[in-house]
Amino acid sequence: MRAVEIIRKKRDGEKLSRKEIGFFVDGAKSGEITDYQISAFLMAVFLKGMDFEETFHLTDAMLNSGIKIDLSDIPGKKIDKHSTGGVGDKISLCLAPIVASAGIIVPMISGRGLGHTGGTVDKMESINGYRTGLTIQEFKQVLKKTGCSIISQTEDIAPVDRIFYAIRDVTATVESIPLITSSIMSKKLAEDIEGLVIDMKVGKGAFMKTLDQAKRLAESMMKVAEQAGVRMKVFFTDMDTPLGYAVGNGIEVLEAMDILKGEGPEDVKEVTLALANGMLELAGIDTDPENLIASGEPLNRFRDMVMLHGGNLDEIALHSEPYVVHSPTSGIIHEIDAYKTGVAAVMTGAGRTRKEDPVDHAAGIKILKTVGDEVKEGEPISYIYTRKKNTNEIQQAILSSFVFSSKPYKKKRRVLEVW
Ligand code: URA
Repeated sequence: MRAVEIIRKKRDGEKLSRKEIGFFVDGAKSGEITDYQISAFLMAVFLKGMDFEETFHLTDAMLNSGIKIDLSDIPGKKIDKHSTGGVGDKISLCLAPIVASAGIIVPMISGRGLGHTGGTVDKMESINGYRTGLTIQEFKQVLKKTGCSIISQTEDIAPVDRIFYAIRDVTATVESIPLITSSIMSKKLAEDIEGLVIDMKVGKGAFMKTLDQAKRLAESMMKVAEQAGVRMKVFFTDMDTPLGYAVGNGIEVLEAMDILKGEGPEDVKEVTLALANGMLELAGIDTDPENLIASGEPLNRFRDMVMLHGGNLDEIALHSEPYVVHSPTSGIIHEIDAYKTGVAAVMTGAGRTRKEDPVDHAAGIKILKTVGDEVKEGEPISYIYTRKKNTNEIQQAILSSFVFSSKPYKKKRRVLEVW
């Protein structure tokens, strides 16, 4: 078998066998198949798609490229959450310690930034010293002590997702149902979980732009989960507008901690509580997540988790001097395009444009005025945090994300539908 034949077959829209998919995944892992062949393969899958059988085989091969963690010696229901990717999406950071304080074990294997969206791993690494690459033994020790641990894919866990993910990030091959399904599910099925809540982002800043597309992705993921015996709940949530006010890495950690303090933006709170209720329901635990937050326990757990990962919460990366973006007009903000904001955040240095690029954990955007707010011409509407000296392009990108109107604005809810 040769990689080039498998790429050719998919390029021509043919169905790949389990053996061919397994061969390609093994070759990607061993390094025998090169990055440029992987790029071509991913683009062929992106353009020609995969049916469910192929998607399942791809997920299975990616899962089996690493090991499956055994958590049977840790008491408690193991339930996790994953987002399909958004802008300003810091929900995992506050959600994991909230449900962990109700007794759920959350073994969270997360990803880095992908395309214009941010990644939980990059956000956690903005905390000085925080190690996302724990050994499995260390991961289990943190889970035993705090009930939650946020780590990245490793050499052992879903290693081929790590390889594919980094290449998809910079080759415009993200928005694909089989590639998203296999990426998320190969990580999640390695976790030994009983239940999974998916935050299915829908809209301008999501990979699935319409509810119809999002439902097709949800069906694909639910079928894989069902075959693997994992219960799943899907929350379709609006991603037309960035979530909360902070978009970046360090800046988002601070906003997630605000939620744990009982503060923070309403929309971040709405999604966090909805997903927390979903995870509690899957675990069969009847408790109110708002009461959990009020008890202070989730914030303590977050602090403990960070400390056990080697992180220091007194040292979160953030540039001290922001550049200010002023409103070009007076009116009510009707739209802040989440995709454009995500692209602007990548331009600040908070995301990658090449796979070997480091991210600037201190970079990002702070939205000062959001949808529904009335502004006057010249009023500050956003801060830009960046190392870059010339911010003209970033300012233009941010301004192009805003739509102003004189008409009143009706606030929308974030949670659109639950399956
Ligand atoms: N999150 C992932 O882990 N993978 C994707 O492809 C998209 C979101």
